[in-house]
Amino acid sequence: MMDDTIDQVLDVVAGLGPEIAAGLWSHRGAAVAEDHPTGDEAIDADVWADALLVDRLSTIEGVGQLASEEREEPVDVGDGLSITIDPLDGSSNVATNNLCGTIVGIFDGQLPAGGEDIAGAAYVLFGPITTMVVAVEDTVTELALGRSGSQTLQRDVTLPAEPVVYGFGGKDPDWTPAFASFADEIRDELKLRYGGAMVGDVNQILHHGGMFAYPALRERPEGKLRLQFEGIPMGYIIEAAGGRASTGVGPMLEAAPTDLHQRTPVYLGNTELIDRLEVALE
Ligand code: AHG
Ligand code: MN
Ligand code: MN
Repeated sequence: MMDDTIDQVLDVVAGLGPEIAAGLWSHRGAAVAEDHPTGDEAIDADVWADALLVDRLSTIEGVGQLASEEREEPVDVGDGLSITIDPLDGSSNVATNNLCGTIVGIFDGQLPAGGEDIAGAAYVLFGPITTMVVAVEDTVTELALGRSGSQTLQRDVTLPAEPVVYGFGGKDPDWTPAFASFADEIRDELKLRYGGAMVGDVNQILHHGGMFAYPALRERPEGKLRLQFEGIPMGYIIEAAGGRASTGVGPMLEAAPTDLHQRTPVYLGNTELIDRLEVALE
């Protein structure tokens, strides 16, 4: 039953991918009246993608709570698994036609819920092709999504052993001294790839190996990304692919949110890099 529900959630998200990709151009416009619950600016596309996802996901039997980065509170739609969505991650990239995507977490428990309760996660990436990366039962699969169905691109996706790229968010002067000196080391070892959408930047890490971070900042120790909607689902995917995800002080999947919209520093990628980062931040 639970597996059925997970499959249905993933099917709905896969089905919506090409639809969202095709419609984004007409929703790239100005900010609407309401901003994110976290105070970030929302654009038309955020709200449009949110409505589509919530509408379709709420019809699945076996889904209980449905929470979106765009909504203050979870919506109760029945009994069963809890779903979290970041309907459009990297939405500020829509204006410049750069990468953005959708992040989904599936939890066997009431929200807010931590890594202990996660039953699956996925992200859709709107790029030159629309792809979806799914993690269930510690196995990661990459699919290409088309209007008439999906095709598996890669099964058992794992991070390449040799890290190649890095992408760190925020401005250097805002970084803490410990993170800044760690970043200096990494700059000498890896190649910079940063696009300003977590989905796109993490997808580079998944394919090339390396490290993504949106770190704690001097004036904002909690960082920018959201634990429930971004940190835990993306962390789960990277760990299922053989990497590590950390809040800087410990495993991302052990950091249970107490507030649905709380933020967290995010560091993820090849295990040895994340281990080193944790030591550098001690
Ligand atoms: P969202 O569009 O869902 O609010 O998320 C944006 C996030 C994330 O995708 C990305 O890693 C980060 O913001 C980029 O921030 P900067 O523009 O500060 O680099
Ligand atoms: Mn996001
Ligand atoms: Mn978003």
